[in-house]
Amino acid sequence: MVEIMHSSILELFELRKDALLGGGKKRIEIQHNHGKLTARERIELLLDEGSFEEIDILKVGRSDACDGDVYPGDGVITGHGTISGREVFVFSQDFTVIGGSLGEGHSQKICKIMDLAARVGSPIIGLNDSGGARIQEGVDALAAYGEIFHRNVNASGVIPQISCIMGPCAGGAVYSPSITDFVFMVQQTSYMFVTGPNVVKTVIHKDISFEDLGGAQVHAKKSGVAQFVYPNDILCLRAVRELINYLPSNNRQKAPILDLNDPPERTDPTLDYLVPSQPNQSYDMNVLIYSILDGAEFLEVQPHFAGNIICGFGRMGGQTIGLVANQPAVLAGVLDNNASVKAARFVRFCDAFNIPLICLVDVPGFMPGPEQEHGGIIRHGAKLLYAFIEATVPRITVIVRKAYGGAYVVMNSKHIHCDINYAWPTAEIAVMGARGASEVIYRKEIKAAADPDALLNEKMENYRARYMNPFLAAKRGYIDDVIFPRNTRHRLIRTLQFLESKKSSRSDRKHGNIPL
Ligand code: HXC
Repeated sequence: MVEIMHSSILELFELRKDALLGGGKKRIEIQHNHGKLTARERIELLLDEGSFEEIDILKVGRSDACDGDVYPGDGVITGHGTISGREVFVFSQDFTVIGGSLGEGHSQKICKIMDLAARVGSPIIGLNDSGGARIQEGVDALAAYGEIFHRNVNASGVIPQISCIMGPCAGGAVYSPSITDFVFMVQQTSYMFVTGPNVVKTVIHKDISFEDLGGAQVHAKKSGVAQFVYPNDILCLRAVRELINYLPSNNRQKAPILDLNDPPERTDPTLDYLVPSQPNQSYDMNVLIYSILDGAEFLEVQPHFAGNIICGFGRMGGQTIGLVANQPAVLAGVLDNNASVKAARFVRFCDAFNIPLICLVDVPGFMPGPEQEHGGIIRHGAKLLYAFIEATVPRITVIVRKAYGGAYVVMNSKHIHCDINYAWPTAEIAVMGARGASEVIYRKEIKAAADPDALLNEKMENYRARYMNPFLAAKRGYIDDVIFPRNTRHRLIRTLQFLESKKSSRSDRKHGNIPL
């Protein structure tokens, strides 16, 4: 006997077939011609093969808005799947459907999975490709954005939120990503701006291209809005997977342990030669970073912004750590406005998600000058100070070379209660560098000398010998140990091990008031 399939099952086949085509074959072709993948192709690449389960495939938008036209899915694909076996929630905007614009139905779909992600404690990843508020839906579209922003803020510090910008994102489409923890952009095909080039032309009579106004390079290098930039969709999505692998699923968990078969007791004798003998000579802090991390694997965050400070994720003894390091090879590793804000945000993310912090210090101070002062170095530097003090995760510092003045205190020093503070024998812990200090203390003497330069040099030598070492601080107990550079990895891993059970509570208050 031949069974006849129930008509409703056939109907479901048809409805799903329609939905899978989004805005239709022609628009998919245009999307490909622009060097972009479709919303569904992106999800396939992001998630473990075959793991995606769609939610709301049949939901449509408001029929009264677009002359009665409705599209199944309403321009966004939502659901969940796994990355390296762990559950994540994802929405992927479909530019082939009314330019990925956001109306009521579209927003309700996103909000539904955001709620689910927060409830079950899994990361949410948004693949954004949208012309912003759907103009035809008017105030409903604006209200719809508000609902998403509301959820972004409530989920902040509860589940990791990641945004990929994979097309033009204008108006309301940029605010949700900017609240999330990490913004990824794709070169040449993605843009972010509050008002586009046309509005710029009308209002301030300036011609500017999409790329120059809000392209990936602009946001990676100048504005600091984008933490990661990749040349195409495929590499971008692969990088999101890499980031997720470093992170816990929520603020109640710890990051997954990944054993890279790198012995914790591994030493690196070349580190004994890393710091140059001349104090003004620079070196690359990355040498130390890659040497101490498991398998020399490091995911740098904002590598193109404020290169004078390095932030990123690595593993030590299999455990994810957040690393903050001054980079003497860029602006001598000085702290400026951008570096302070970059590191402060990173520190707060790590603290929110139980990721221990390791700080490698070689800092000559804060950047002097009117540009920095007028740009708010007091306010921005205070953000980093605040962020470190506020952090209750294990906090370890290694002073490699310079640790001068206020910048020394800010960089996770013992004085702001880091848990353990090591120094290399090459550390110079002082109120300021030898020249500045000698010029202040011996100003009159030097001015009156027959050979002022010779006397200044002599005073600087004396100052270096007396103050510029870690031993004074170690004698005072401000340094827990002066360690051999080659042993840094081993000491850090042992320290992370004993700090794993660290307990620390915050005072009872609604929230502090970080100097924004
Ligand atoms: C409705 C939209 C749309 C929108 C694009 N489309 N944006 N429909 N509302 N916001 C439609 C187009 O009409 C077009 O439909 C299709 O999507 C593809 O768009 P194109 O313009 O052909 O594509 P492209 O040339 O690649 O340009 C993409 C774009 C451009 C740069 C995004 O469409 C654009 O400038 N859109 C408007 C962007 C904007 O100003 N948004 C801000 C809205 S205000 P057809 O049928 O012709 O193919 C906002 C404020 C929210 O978001 C505040 C919340 C707090």
